[in-house]
Order: sequence, then C-alpha cells, then structure tokens
Amino acid sequence: MKDETKIIHTRSGRGPVETVNPPVERGSTVLLPTREILYGDGKVYGRMGLTVQRELEAALCILENAKHCRLTANGLQSIALALGAVLKSGDHVLVSDSIYGPSRRYCTRRLSAMGIMATRFNPLIGDGVEALIEDNTKAILLESPGSLTFDIMDTPAITKVAQANKLISLFDNTWGVGALHKPLDLGVDIVMQALTKYPVGHADAMGGAVLTNSARLANQIAMCSEDWGISLGPDDAYLALRGLRSLGTRLKQHEAGGYQIAKWLEARSEVDAVLHPGLASHPEHALWKRDFQGANGLFAFIMKATPEPALDKFLEAMQLFGMGFSWGGFESLLIPCDDQLDRIEGDRIHERAGPLIRVHVGLEDPNDLIDDLEQAFAAMKV
Ligand SMILES: Cc1ncc(COP(=O)(O)O)c(C=O)c1O
Repeated sequence: MKDETKIIHTRSGRGPVETVNPPVERGSTVLLPTREILYGDGKVYGRMGLTVQRELEAALCILENAKHCRLTANGLQSIALALGAVLKSGDHVLVSDSIYGPSRRYCTRRLSAMGIMATRFNPLIGDGVEALIEDNTKAILLESPGSLTFDIMDTPAITKVAQANKLISLFDNTWGVGALHKPLDLGVDIVMQALTKYPVGHADAMGGAVLTNSARLANQIAMCSEDWGISLGPDDAYLALRGLRSLGTRLKQHEAGGYQIAKWLEARSEVDAVLHPGLASHPEHALWKRDFQGANGLFAFIMKATPEPALDKFLEAMQLFGMGFSWGGFESLLIPCDDQLDRIEGDRIHERAGPLIRVHVGLEDPNDLIDDLEQAFAAMKV
C-alpha cells in the first residue's frame, strides 16, 4: 500500500460517534478514575498530547519510514530539541553551512552558551567531512537541498563517515517532507521537519517533528522534550494532520508549477542561473536524482548584475507573488535573499553575478504566475 493511502487510513477517531477525523481534545487536565491510572504510564496531561497528536505522529512515521516521532511547536524547535537531546557541554558538532539560518544561529549562539562548539562545513564536502572530526565530535547536522542555495549533499557518503566514527547524524528534511526524500533510509539517525511548511500547507499554523528509528535516541529525545516542556497544541496538530491527507496531491501540483516556472526563468535574459535540483543544469542533479523521489515548488534563481533600485522595482511590481518568509502554503511567494546569506569562504554562492531570489510556487495556475513575473521584469526597466 502506498504512503498516501496509509496516511488517510491512520485515523483513530473512535468516540461514541465514529467520525472520519480524530476529535480535537482541547484539554490541559485529563480526568482519571483511579490513583493507579493517575500515576500509570498513560498520557495523562495535555502537554503530552492526546488523540490528535498521536494520530499525527503515526502519519509522520509513515512518511519518514520512522518508528518514533515527537512533536514540537515549530520547526526551529525540532532542531533545538534534537540537538539538545544528543549533545552535552564539552561536545563538538559539525554543521553544514547551508542549513536554515536560524538553525545555524542556534548552533553558533545557543550551543556555544551551553559549552558546545560547532564547526561549519561546505555542504559539498561529501566524505571529506571525515577530516573535520575531532576527539569530542558527537554529531553532524545536515540539510539537503540547502536553504536558499539548493546545493545537494552526498548524504549516503556523509552518513557512512558518521557511522564509522560513531557520530549521530541529524537531517532537516523540511524540503523533502518524507514524501520526496527519506533520509532515515540513507543511514541518517534523526530527522526533523517544520510541519509549518507543506504538511500544514495553508500558512495557518506552525509545528515541528523529530523522528528516528532508534529506541535509545527516541528515549533521549523524549526526556529532553519533557524537561524543556515542549508540546504541540491540539488545533495546530489537527491542521498539520489535515494537511497531510492531501500532501501528495498538493506536492504534485507544486512540483509541476515549479518546473514550469523554473524552466521559463532559465530562458529569461535577466536571469543568470536557476537553482532547482530537478533541472539538468543543476550541478548536483545526478545526486538529487539518485536520492530524491520528486521535487516541490521551492527553488531559487540568480539574476544578472542588477542595481538595487531595479531589484526593488521588480519586487514591488509583483501582483500574485507575495514577499514574505516561509513557504509550503497554497500561495506563491518570492524573497530576495542577499540580506540573509552568511556563508563560509569557498562556497560557490559567493561567485554569483547578481541578487539571489527564492521562489515558492503555490497552487495558482502557473501561466498566471508567469504573466506576473513577466510584467515585474518589464517594470524593472521603466
Ligand atoms: C528548512 C527549514 N527548516 C526549519 C524551518 C523552521 O520552521 P518554523 O518556521 O516552523 O520554525 C524553516 C522555516 O522556514 C525552514 O525553511
């Protein structure tokens, strides 16, 4: 049975009335009949989550091919929880340089305040990462495609090095959502996702998840989550679960629209390069084809050298593309990224001709979106 079918049939709504969806139990207190049950090992308090959270965890385990799942309030918290669960003061962690900016900030600012040192490495390093391992290196944090720059890592080569050196590998799989990429199948130990993006899919809730197949790591994550008081409320969990039922169908549309617009952009005279791993022109296209099952609607392009006033005219002319953070919803978005790029020396993104623009292709008709881009490019020249 395909994942999409299984996700629709994980339902556990079996109250006095059987509904298709689980009940959203808005509760902190759970009333319990006996002392034995009160102090037993059931889920006895709202922070641990109730029916809807259990069903969301089960559906996410199907998507990621995982045995254990822990929910968090947002995606960044899933990164913080996963790293917090496996590292302690005095440890060292290797961090891919193209991870999501706030995750990188957490590694350099928060972890160092906790006595944990982080070293950033070029995401294209492959098994060369072995040379960076120190005596106290305990973990390695990966993300592919890289945030903003869409570089693809050789994940199996890196996880092989991690296993040989007893490092715990962690992977932010928000782009791959499980449906397009299953890092646990490639030897990764822990996967994190921002449910805020494609799982919720409608830009109206936030959430995160940490998944693993290791009972030992799941226990460490559970204890850290308990200690930090991490939870995902029932309404947000419900929206993420509801989003998952249509994830496969939405992704197909995001993917098709993404390809159409990426190819159109490639042919434009204003554009120097399109950074979409599914295009043959992408430098790691072969790696992507080997390790991923499909694409979504998120990619970037590099403009030819463009003066700032012209860039502003382009951005402000946009009618259908909104300018705002996040992605994965039904709406198309576009942001200039130069203000938030912070990459180590030697990263190929330093060599770009003009501004880096990230595009999220939503569920609108792609031809309408192309018309919007066309008139915005024209506005640049006025
Ligand atoms: C790759 C990636 N990981 C994690 C996050 C963080 O998710 P959240 O905004 O839910 O904290 C984001 C958000 O943009 C992201 O793009």
